[in-house]
Amino acid sequence: MKMLVLFSTRDGQTQRIARFIADQVQPLTECDVINIKDIGTADWQAYDRLLIAASIRYGHYAPEVHRCIADHLPELQARISGFISVNLTARKADKCTPHTNVYTRKFLEQSPWTPDRCLVVAGALRYPRYRWFDKFMIRLIMKITGGETDTSKEVEYTDWSQVADFADNFAQITGKSL
Ligand SMILES: Cc1cc2nc3c(=O)[nH]c(=O)nc-3n(C[C@H](O)[C@H](O)[C@H](O)COP(=O)(O)O)c2cc1C
Repeated sequence: MKMLVLFSTRDGQTQRIARFIADQVQPLTECDVINIKDIGTADWQAYDRLLIAASIRYGHYAPEVHRCIADHLPELQARISGFISVNLTARKADKCTPHTNVYTRKFLEQSPWTPDRCLVVAGALRYPRYRWFDKFMIRLIMKITGGETDTSKEVEYTDWSQVADFADNFAQITGKSL
């Protein structure tokens, strides 16, 4: 049996995290990486464990994340599963756990899916790639929250060792926790 990582991304960081996880677990299990938009192509029977990794934009995960969960709830619940939330709030030490990160806490409270594991990880800030409105808004948020405001910069906050540890642990779970 194989592992599947489904990712939802706007600017590529969550895809990078998904591919990193696939490389990390390779010694333990075969792992496919699929964009959640292409979920129709997935052969669910091939997988015994599954991660959904999704980024936050203006306070929300992409609609296809919620759609995928609604459409495939029995498949998700039957497998060892995990959720990874990627956002910039998580760069702060007091906002990087499933309970202290507001997006993740709300998601877990409201979702019909109960993942066995959950990771909150900081994403990336890539000003030069944003459209002017997004650049303006993110800069405003960064100013308010004490982050990087130099719009010529790209900053990767992702803690790759945190992602590696999560991936190693997830690949070694032997049974569902519920
Ligand atoms: C337009 C825009 C809106 C964002 N909104 C939020 C937000 O509301 N809260 C937050 O913590 N991070 C926010 N972020 C940060 C993203 O979650 C972060 O850049 C992440 O790495 C994006 O992942 P992706 O490249 O996979 O889409 C936003 C980023 C952009 C570009």
